[in-house]
Amino acid sequence: MRYLPACILMLLTTPVFAASTEAVKPESGMVVAAQPAAAEAGMAMLQKGGNAFDAAAATALALGVVEPGSSGLGGGGFFMLYIARQDRYVMIDARETSPAAAGHGEVFESRSSIDGAQAAGVPGLAAGVDRLAKKYGKLGLKRVVAPAVKLATDGFTVSSRLAGMIEWRKAAFNPAARELFDKKPGEIIRQPQLAATLKQFGEHGAEVFYRGETALSLARDLKRDGGLIGLNDLGEYHAVERKPVVFDYHGYRVVTAALPSSGGMTLAHIFGQLQDDDLKRLKELDRDHLLIEAMKRAYRDRNRYLGDADFVTVPYDYLAENRLQELRDSIDMQHASPALDIQGVGEMFSEGHDTTHFSVVDREGNMVSATLSVNYAFGSGYVSPSTGILLNDEMDDFATRPGEPNAYGLVQGQANGVEPGKRMLSSMTPSFIIGPERTFILGTPGGSRIISMVLEASVGSMLDEAPPDDWVNSPRFHHQFLPDAVQLEPGFSAKLAGQLQGSGHTLQWLERPYGNMQAILLDRKSGRLTGITDRRGEGAVSRQP
Ligand code: DON
Repeated sequence: MRYLPACILMLLTTPVFAASTEAVKPESGMVVAAQPAAAEAGMAMLQKGGNAFDAAAATALALGVVEPGSSGLGGGGFFMLYIARQDRYVMIDARETSPAAAGHGEVFESRSSIDGAQAAGVPGLAAGVDRLAKKYGKLGLKRVVAPAVKLATDGFTVSSRLAGMIEWRKAAFNPAARELFDKKPGEIIRQPQLAATLKQFGEHGAEVFYRGETALSLARDLKRDGGLIGLNDLGEYHAVERKPVVFDYHGYRVVTAALPSSGGMTLAHIFGQLQDDDLKRLKELDRDHLLIEAMKRAYRDRNRYLGDADFVTVPYDYLAENRLQELRDSIDMQHASPALDIQGVGEMFSEGHDTTHFSVVDREGNMVSATLSVNYAFGSGYVSPSTGILLNDEMDDFATRPGEPNAYGLVQGQANGVEPGKRMLSSMTPSFIIGPERTFILGTPGGSRIISMVLEASVGSMLDEAPPDDWVNSPRFHHQFLPDAVQLEPGFSAKLAGQLQGSGHTLQWLERPYGNMQAILLDRKSGRLTGITDRRGEGAVSRQP
């Protein structure tokens, strides 16, 4: 690994592989998304002469309608873009912010950061899509909104997967959410208020959402129903363009999410520890052991030191070579290190079910990797009756009760404490893994496990021992420092699990699979595209004819 400290990492934007000069253009366009109707919405934009950014805007809005428990206008997310003409990567940060009334988190007791209107951060998706469509797209907002308006008006059929999510979360639904979403498999969900809100957004863009009629209606509903978001919070919200985290590992360039996502910094931390390891030559057991140990150390630091960089200073040494080396040196290849034993190693003294992903490529070579969320399944469970917007519960991604685990079991510190206007730390990691000949576009939902899923699929692409389908679909493993256990998906090799246990790892077998990765592999020599949708979900690959 060519290691660069954090500040330089984010400035390193010139691709090592001159994609624009050597590369053949993609053979066609492609959209891979978690729902077929959303992939088709994006494809319709490509077919109308739009580019990947138009397709991404349409896909994002359509997902918010047909996957209402996972993302939408009431949520936020990150869009990683590659703009082929400029040979430039940029991240649109549409992450939610904390409303002023949340103060320093005093208002959150027990589940109040998860269920109900007060759990919502100021939504970012509308600002992100506005920026994406107007600055980078060709078709204009009205046209990219159209498929979502149609889907919200005509409705869509509830699958058994969605019905399961509804059943699980419906206790948190307010009356408006219950009326819309309390449905059985085979029933239709129609969202007329949301259709009207989307239409307004198509006409007037972010202005109406944050400072116009939608803002007034939303703020009125929230005030009446115990929400913390006021008109000022909406008025002050802005999507921000950020330089992605960029680093190199053994001939691969990784372009990935910047703070306030912890994803890129955590991947850089893990690969940084492994700079002198040859993953290709290690036996599977040793490789998995090493990855688990590196994850454990990287999540420890994530949980302790990372937060919105506009509010907290990430220690300068965070990714320093000698510190990561010290952490690597503390890994015993024969035995798991108990989490408690690595307290103090590489210590720095410094101040400090549900989401969605899609990937897009167009014929010009533009690319989008986007992960969007309302946090938990159906977010806060609160639908604003007059706008039809389901609000997120991203406030729970803050350390609302420092020292206590959040919904994903993350025990986080003061760096990620609540402050007015601050963005809560995220794990969403939309990424591009740029190899000598191929570019792998990937990301997934899955809360704190997102980063390890992206790590494992990235390593799969680097090893190239198994077909691309396996990089996405192989059983996964995860360690996040606390709880001090390796979480294993059903289907993970029992033999390997036994060996890991033999090395001292505590195993936690999960009852259900996790994640829903939507990826595209672009062969830059031939222009060939391979779409890969996670078999754990209901996603679809849409290829331009
Ligand atoms: O930003 C985050 O890290 C979380 N709000 C993501 C939530 C998520 O992926 C839920 N999916 N199962």
